Amino acid sequence: MQLRAVKNYEEMSILASSMLVEKVNKLERPVLGLATGSTPEGLYKQLIKQYEEKKVSFQHVKTFNLDEYVGLNKQDEQSYHYYMKDKLFRHVDIPEQHVHLPNGAATNLDEECKAYESRIKENGGIDVQILGIGLNGHIGFNEPGTSFSSRTHLVDLAPSTRQANARFFTSLEQVPEQAITMGIDTIMQSKEILLLVSGEKKAKAVARMVEGDITEEFPASILQKHPNVRVIGDEAALSLL
Ligand code: F6R
Repeated sequence: MQLRAVKNYEEMSILASSMLVEKVNKLERPVLGLATGSTPEGLYKQLIKQYEEKKVSFQHVKTFNLDEYVGLNKQDEQSYHYYMKDKLFRHVDIPEQHVHLPNGAATNLDEECKAYESRIKENGGIDVQILGIGLNGHIGFNEPGTSFSSRTHLVDLAPSTRQANARFFTSLEQVPEQAITMGIDTIMQSKEILLLVSGEKKAKAVARMVEGDITEEFPASILQKHPNVRVIGDEAALSLL
């Protein structure tokens, strides 16, 4: 695991975007794994800026998001489909058919999980996966206790995760109770992982991810075994290391 310390959230976002742009410009058919939440918002702003400055095009890029809530349709403003469209896709030249997120409104959710996993394989796997980390060590929506060999699957969200995400909803009751997420093994199959982390509140989780035991009780700990992980963290997030 390689750690890159930066001063603050903005520097984290700028560094991550320049790494991604370099990759996108280098590869013939880049496949990016994307995340939602607060952490990558600055990265997406920087990518849009680089696109507007004509430093990058996304026409040849394919994307696969980590996860999506169950029960929300794509137009729902709380869905991750909406988030991605609003924060990145509608601002750049990525073709709509190149964009993939699990369909949380599918009638057969198990089939949807299998189909999502197959779509990732058919496209040659993920070149760079962007990750954030939850306070309980979750990556994607893989909560503590998830098997390290899991592939894309349906999950019940932990109360702490629903609580943490309630800030995006009008009330806690509105936060869905389930989600579809790439599994831990799906994430581990990515050729490269870029984990972004900012703020003091994440410091304990980062320290445990980097230095703690590798255990299913703390999903992000498995990243110690991935051959190509870069963590870009600001001073506050890396303060316990
Ligand atoms: C988002 C995701 C989650 C978040 C994590 C951190 O697609 O899969 O694992 O990365 O919950 O969220 P923020 O960035 O909001 O602190």
